[in-house]
Amino acid sequence: MTDISIAGLGAAKLVVMADGLLKLGDIETAKALYRAALPKASPQLQRRIHIRLGVAHKVDNRLVPTFKALDDLEAIPNANVFIGDGLATWLKALPFFEDQRFLDIAQRHADLLPIRNWHWNLQTALWAVAQARKVPGDLVELGVFKGHTTLFCAEYLDFAAWPKRWRLYDTFEGIPEDQLDAGWSDVNRRLYGDTFTFEEVRQRFAHIPNIEVIKGRVPEILHERSPGDAISFLHIDMNNATAEIAALDVLFDRVSPGGVILFDDFAWSTADAQRRAETAWFAARGEQVLPLPTGQGLYVKR
Ligand SMILES: C[S@@+](CC[C@H](N)C(=O)[O-])C[C@H]1O[C@@H](n2cnc3c(N)ncnc32)[C@H](O)[C@@H]1O
Repeated sequence: MTDISIAGLGAAKLVVMADGLLKLGDIETAKALYRAALPKASPQLQRRIHIRLGVAHKVDNRLVPTFKALDDLEAIPNANVFIGDGLATWLKALPFFEDQRFLDIAQRHADLLPIRNWHWNLQTALWAVAQARKVPGDLVELGVFKGHTTLFCAEYLDFAAWPKRWRLYDTFEGIPEDQLDAGWSDVNRRLYGDTFTFEEVRQRFAHIPNIEVIKGRVPEILHERSPGDAISFLHIDMNNATAEIAALDVLFDRVSPGGVILFDDFAWSTADAQRRAETAWFAARGEQVLPLPTGQGLYVKR
């Protein structure tokens, strides 16, 4: 029998082999072949490999169907396919792939989030933070986890040079038991149940002196350590309706005209309780949140 070595195989063949293994569920060998193909691949193929490595990052019952969808969509000529968790686009522009700075910073911090291929979500957050530059007031994030989204935006936009402050609030102990929404507790525990510390997150932001990481439970902590009287950007990402509605009660009136409120989970089917509660909260004030295909919800204050 002839010994076969992958050293002599080109990138395209390695990707075909890896794709086959992924469909069969042999994730680890598939990932090893994708990595072996990367240095030999054209920029276009590298992009497709990075998307595949993102899809293969989390091994669960979504992986093989998601990969099959990717594979099928790529059969459309010039489809420019992108696939992440709960979002597939094709025949759409992918501006972040033309922005090496975006890709480098996103890649540097990718391990801080349990989900990969988060580019569309980061693109929305980056837009919202950039808007805040010209709007009076400071920036606020409620629900920080390991700091992924804020770190990405702050580094990309060189927030350290802005004459503003950004206050980040989290229990750093997960969602309080009495705030867990029915139906989503297991997903939240699995995705965000990692052990990490407040101090670790504080250190991660130490190079950005105008960012303050604050440990405490929302809404109580917002009274103890106020984020200020004027807010230009409010990122709400606490994965539960109780805390997010309580935060709106405290902070909505402080958001400046032109300021953006970005909900991270508003349009995920898994976060039904949040969307229903927030839709009703805004409707009572004659307002609406725009549900985005990324799963985020966007509101610009009048
Ligand atoms: C999805 S994670 C946040 C992800 C983060 N925005 C990012 O970009 O990486 C949700 C976070 O909300 C926090 N959280 C949930 N309820 C909270 C509450 N009542 N007060 C403070 N933090 C809370 C959890 O501890 C968890 O770290």
